[in-house]
Amino acid sequence: MPLLDDAARVRENAYAPYSDFKVGAALRTASGKVYVGVNVENAAYPEGTCAEAGAIAAMIADGELEIVELAVIADAPRPVAPCGGCRQKIAEFAAPETEVTMATTRGERKTVTVAELLPGAFESGDMEHGKG
Ligand code: THU
Repeated sequence: MPLLDDAARVRENAYAPYSDFKVGAALRTASGKVYVGVNVENAAYPEGTCAEAGAIAAMIADGELEIVELAVIADAPRPVAPCGGCRQKIAEFAAPETEVTMATTRGERKTVTVAELLPGAFESGDMEHGKG
């Protein structure tokens, strides 16, 4: 899977001196462009950012909006599970049926949809007033 290869490659550049848990993410957009991201930790722990968030920020900065596929990889005991915040960030830019592949550096993989990652996601339509 080329996207997973991109995620694995960029993972090497993760800045994770505090957790020692490097994560790489890669996403493809509707126009076929690929954006990558890594986790970037900070001595002030809560200021750290996730790999998925980095890839999404790169996508937005380049003027793209629609994720059609995403892969994330780490050296974990099971295919790395995006955190709750990242699930919400992914759902902002991906259709519910979009596939997310989670992987380990040892070759284990699991593919799920965005809807499976975040059932009942809060979305922009939930802010419409006076209809419920
Ligand atoms: N992390 C990610 O970058 N993505 C995930 O899907 C799971 C967790 C990072 C955040 C932090 O730098 C480290 O992994 C440990 O939580």
